[in-house]
Amino acid sequence: MDQRTPVVILGAGYTGLVIHALGQARGLRVMAGSRSPDEHLASIPASQRLRFDLARPQTWADIPEQARLVWCFPAVPETLVQDFAERVAPRVSRLVVLGSTSAYEPSPPQKAGAAAPLINEASPLNLALPRVRGEEWLRTHCQAIVLRSAGIYGPGRHVLDWVRQGRVTASQRYVNLVHVEDLAYICLAALERGKAGESYNVSDGQPRQWAEICRTARDRWGVESSGENRQQGVGPGKRLSIVKLQTELGYTVLHPDLYEALDAIENAAHHKLESL
Ligand SMILES: NC(=O)c1ccc[n+]([C@@H]2O[C@H](COP(=O)([O-])OP(=O)(O)OC[C@H]3O[C@@H](n4cnc5c(N)ncnc54)[C@H](OP(=O)(O)O)[C@@H]3O)[C@@H](O)[C@H]2O)c1
Repeated sequence: MDQRTPVVILGAGYTGLVIHALGQARGLRVMAGSRSPDEHLASIPASQRLRFDLARPQTWADIPEQARLVWCFPAVPETLVQDFAERVAPRVSRLVVLGSTSAYEPSPPQKAGAAAPLINEASPLNLALPRVRGEEWLRTHCQAIVLRSAGIYGPGRHVLDWVRQGRVTASQRYVNLVHVEDLAYICLAALERGKAGESYNVSDGQPRQWAEICRTARDRWGVESSGENRQQGVGPGKRLSIVKLQTELGYTVLHPDLYEALDAIENAAHHKLESL
């Protein structure tokens, strides 16, 4: 990647801040965008912060010419996305948009015991969702690269906490997850060598059932779900294929083993508590 062309993160929240840190470590010129940069990006030097608000087009002018953009928030409302596509996209060199696997059509009802469907990039999209229409607009009109991400976890977004808090229970539903560090590296890989106008699924490549995760949480860490099951949805879930990410983008997942990654997050949290 050309070190001089700035990478600009639009919406530097949980994932964007990791992209910023990894990009800096690689010697890239990275700028982090926020609607309230002084408040939300205080940990970043002022020279690397950018005020950016999709709802305030006057802030768009601060995006440097030829920048490589990573868009890290839902691509809505459509009118503003289309306006951005017309006014900003032609003057930047690359655009990577973070989407979600919820873009794929909800799975039809399955027979009891049937496996959840395997989803690849050719699977039908749910264009009833405004954000999916926004992403597709950017992909088809501006050659954006769309990354359809699985559920993001990592330090501060801990799967075991979701179990502890009863936000998930031991259902047979499939879930796909990705460590934020992998997602951030994949964003940089997509900027560098993603094919313009393509979409790539992003996960750790290991669809799992919540029942298995909850069982492992109990056996390995003694963490039990309180069983309120507020956020899991219905149906069999999806099993995400990341063959395209691996073969065409050439990315090798750093955290394919969820449980090893959770161990590392859990240990780091304990060390932090002990040092207080
Ligand atoms: N969480 C998940 O498990 C998950 C799974 C799949 C996909 N995704 C998608 O992946 C992307 C990154 O996720 P994340 O969890 O890292 O997001 P996040 O922490 O919410 O960060 C996104 C940031 O974008 C900024 N933002 C929001 N609306 C904006 C607007 N209209 N104009 C400019 N900036 C705006 C906000 O920062 P300021 O308030 O500082 O402006 C926000 O913190 C999102 O699109 C998310 O929907 C998330």
